[in-house]
Amino acid sequence: MSDCQKPISASTRYGAVYGFPIRHSASPPMQNAGMRALGLDWRYLAFEVRPERLRQAIEGAKTMGFIGLNLTVPHKLLAVDMVEVLDESARVWGAVNTIRFETKLPSGEWVPVGRAEAIGEVRAQGFNTDAGAISRALREDLGVELRGATGVLLGAGGAGRTAALKLAAEGLARLHLVNRTAAKAEAIAREIQRLYPETQATVGYPAGKVDFLLNATSLGLKPGDPLPWDETRFPLRQAAAVYDMIYRPATTPLLQQARAAGCRTANGLGMLLYQGAQALEIWTERPAPVEVMRQALAEAMR
Ligand code: ATR
Repeated sequence: MSDCQKPISASTRYGAVYGFPIRHSASPPMQNAGMRALGLDWRYLAFEVRPERLRQAIEGAKTMGFIGLNLTVPHKLLAVDMVEVLDESARVWGAVNTIRFETKLPSGEWVPVGRAEAIGEVRAQGFNTDAGAISRALREDLGVELRGATGVLLGAGGAGRTAALKLAAEGLARLHLVNRTAAKAEAIAREIQRLYPETQATVGYPAGKVDFLLNATSLGLKPGDPLPWDETRFPLRQAAAVYDMIYRPATTPLLQQARAAGCRTANGLGMLLYQGAQALEIWTERPAPVEVMRQALAEAMR
């Protein structure tokens, strides 16, 4: 690993994140730190791309020899129909947050553009690294062993649904789903019963203790937001650990109260880190320098 990086030249390769809006994104400092630590002559950029231009923007990157892309709101579902190949992760989760451009060798084998000497025919392969990041963050940042565990999940939107299904896929014993619109939580509970019958999914707060509570609602992003859970029905001391998917602000009122109640806590920065680290691994086919990327992310947040 090296801290110095060659200046941009005609052989520098590029990756990027597309979103709308995009200015808040912390991915460029994180990915550039990772690429630099791996000694790659690569740079990672951010572009504000309107959803109606997403297809064109993907084609543009493909044409210009980009190694890959990350996609954020509102592009993850749209992109499913804009890539030539879907990795199993993207098929299972129905969303693409990482694209790897691949080129065909004379042998017929497709290899990542980032590893190819010369670029010929190019195709885009879609991946999803968001779901894996949820379970990794709960394990590594919060010390939760998911298999056989009991959890409370707040929120049944896009993020909540992916989290719920991923937790069930990891072998959770019991999942208590809570959402303002109960019908959405009920639909997810039914989906879990169908796909992962070993996980008991119910709607509403548990009476007893749980291994963790996970917030996947947007409540806590803005000052003055109501709390994402009902304190009278679920005192936080009943949860051994509390994870908030929100990372800005770093300490939401939920995390503040969870700390006061003696729970282990972590914010959503780990999820951002692990989805990014896995994307870099997909492009490079090498282990990502996770700690370097974590530090860059923490600095960007300051
Ligand atoms: P994301 O893709 O981030 O999950 P989303 O699909 O819009 O975004 O979901 C937002 C989540 O926050 C939902 O669970 C939503 O509850 P509803 O399904 O009832 O809409 C929850 N949420 C947002 N604002 C809320 C509020 N003021 N009170 C309670 N829940 C709220």
